[in-house]
Amino acid sequence: MSLIEKHAIFEKNSIVLLVGILIAVAIGGLVEIVPLFYLKSTIEKVEGMRPYTPLELAGRNIYIREGCYNCHSQMIRPMRDEIERYGHFSLAAESMYDHPFQWSSKRTGPDLARVGNKYSDKWQVEHLINPRAVVPDSIMPGYPHLAKNELDTKHLDSMVKTHALVGVPYTEDQIANVAKDVVAQATADDSTVAKRYGASAKSRDFDGNPAKVTEMDAVVAYLQMLGTLVDFSKYDDKANLR
Ligand code: HEC
Repeated sequence: MSLIEKHAIFEKNSIVLLVGILIAVAIGGLVEIVPLFYLKSTIEKVEGMRPYTPLELAGRNIYIREGCYNCHSQMIRPMRDEIERYGHFSLAAESMYDHPFQWSSKRTGPDLARVGNKYSDKWQVEHLINPRAVVPDSIMPGYPHLAKNELDTKHLDSMVKTHALVGVPYTEDQIANVAKDVVAQATADDSTVAKRYGASAKSRDFDGNPAKVTEMDAVVAYLQMLGTLVDFSKYDDKANLR
């Protein structure tokens, strides 16, 4: 049988052709994907990355619950207009402790990957309660309930343990103090959380209401740390066009 005749088997028989295509695509896919599981350098380690504190993690959960990702990405692409607007492009390492990651793709609102420290806590609180109070033309919905709802920390303990299980390097000390750290970080300037998580874990009364730990405390704590962990001025940073 000549080569042309052999090829005719594929061309004349759609099922055989389909199976052939599937095998070719599967091999191609494996060749691309499998090495990534074995390469240590797939995610370049950068200094400053740490697991989320329990309060930030709770804020992240609320961010997911409220569907903020439907309008906001957390992924600055390595293109000049993005970098000029939002800052250094996102590194893979910056979402290495995100389960699941919040890259998203739809931008009805701006990218939030580096929104941390861009505004005051007070601005964030007012904006979340009623975006029109600070940005008159905003089309973002208000989330006034966040300021009223007490933060439910019932499952936070198991959540931190689950993250540890999938590879987030929480220490035993951190795991044992989840409930304590949530309150400590949300009430006042307090160094206990910073001792366990490093100086980048800031403690204060994020929502301006010292009477209780609210969902607002958690969301603002989360927003204010986004993109602040890696100090890009330390790197030889020719890619940063700012
Ligand atoms: C329907 C789309 C939509 C949803 C859902 C949404 N936002 Fe927004 N967001 C916007 C738009 C549009 C803007 C820009 C106008 C403004 O600042 O209000 C914005 C702005 C922001 C900003 C200011 C960003 C900056 O750099 O100026 C923050 C912070 C923010 N949103 C957080 C959130 C959080 C947290 C949630 C979920 C609780 C959320 N958003 C849900 C549309 C949305």
